[in-house]
Amino acid sequence: MKVTIIGAGNVGSTCAEVIATQAIASEVVLLDIKEGFAEGKALDMMQTSTTIGFGTKIIGTTGDYSKTSDSDVVVITSGIPRKPGMTREELIGINAGIVKTVSENVLKHSPNTIIVVVSNPMDTMTYLALKSTGLPKNRVIGMGGALDSSRFKTYLSQALDRPANDIHGMVIGGHGDTTMIPLTRLATYNGLPISDLISEEELGNVASSTMVGGATLTKLLGTSAWYAPGASVAFLVKSILNDEKRIIPCSVFLDGEYNQDDICIGVPCIIGKNGCEKIINLNLNDQESQRYNAGVNLNYTLFDGLGRRFTYKILKEQFALSELQLRETIETTILQLYSVYFNVAQLKESTEIFKQALAVSIERQRRAESAFSYGQSNKLAVLNAQDDVTNDSISLLQINQQLDNARRDLNLLLNEPMDQQFQVETIVN
Ligand code: NAI
Ligand code: 2OP
Repeated sequence: MKVTIIGAGNVGSTCAEVIATQAIASEVVLLDIKEGFAEGKALDMMQTSTTIGFGTKIIGTTGDYSKTSDSDVVVITSGIPRKPGMTREELIGINAGIVKTVSENVLKHSPNTIIVVVSNPMDTMTYLALKSTGLPKNRVIGMGGALDSSRFKTYLSQALDRPANDIHGMVIGGHGDTTMIPLTRLATYNGLPISDLISEEELGNVASSTMVGGATLTKLLGTSAWYAPGASVAFLVKSILNDEKRIIPCSVFLDGEYNQDDICIGVPCIIGKNGCEKIINLNLNDQESQRYNAGVNLNYTLFDGLGRRFTYKILKEQFALSELQLRETIETTILQLYSVYFNVAQLKESTEIFKQALAVSIERQRRAESAFSYGQSNKLAVLNAQDDVTNDSISLLQINQQLDNARRDLNLLLNEPMDQQFQVETIVN
């Protein structure tokens, strides 16, 4: 069995390591755009095979998708991670371009693969991968619930002072600090309801710690976590490759289930050789349903900066924002990003200009959170570019790649055919 992992960073390489050491697949391909990075990680890991004793072959490649051919599962971890204080949603602008291009490339070489999306904001990225590849919904699965559930069970085991392996529990809803729902009512310790064993207050604390589990680690580590995320992806991949039919909460396309449609969000799924083989319909109580629906709505609003539902439906109908106004707003913010990339001397000034542009955007769009979140992610890109350029750790090729991604993202946001692309070079020159 062959698994490809796009993005050989923290999560991708940890996932490769767990897959190899647990003999989940016979071959793992790591692909990254950073020259030599995936090759280096693969070689380093292979040199542990005799000491740890695994037989999985791990190879690395810089951007050569032909090496990924005929993968049974492809995991997408490429993109940028959170920095302290950031939400997952703020990554949307940059990661959308990356995830869309990557999913399309992957499919050309592995037409029968199952795609597991990890890049954040994961629920939106899963939707994007599904729509851009046109794959059936069972074959595009977002990983978030497995990780959130493992954090939930760990916090429960600490509260109970009992082994985590004896605890069952699940987190559904969005993979976001405010949209996930740790199902405290259904959590058990060896079959006993945990709600009978600890106080409501303790249970509430466990749920709160779970919900900010990712942010807590980001604050401690300075970037987002990788051990539990990498292991959770491997756990999901194992259930697919071994046809284990485990129930794992995953972000999948809902088509009426949980009274939702046209969105990817976390629900319990039976995961086997065909990917998501069935969605389990839980009987949520009123409070849980309310929170689930609130999470879904927030996802529509915040996550759907990709243009489709929020931009077109809400911006147009509810805020009466014209196509032109929307285009102007997005172009203003993205232009600041370009100017930062193209003129290092103006870095600080551009950040200021960007902030002003963002303020104007917000003013202009009143409560148009979609553009706001898009602007926020560009702000992040500005800050990242600032670091990268200052440290001389970004090549012109990478800058161009990011520009391409940003441009594609913009076009996606505007939902335009590719032949009418926004010609940013003209403006920059
Ligand atoms: P990282 O920065 O360590 O690794 C990302 C890698 O992607 C880098 O090596 C980068 O060179 C590569 N990359 C960027 N563009 C690429 C492209 N077009 N093609 C191939 N490779 C490309 O980041 P980390 O910590 O591994 O996180 C990766 C993503 O996963 C982030 O978006 C993060 O927010 C997300 N994440 C999601 C979790 C979940 O539960 N869904 C949990 C943890 C992280
Ligand atoms: C996590 O939950 C940030 O999604 C990432 O660790």
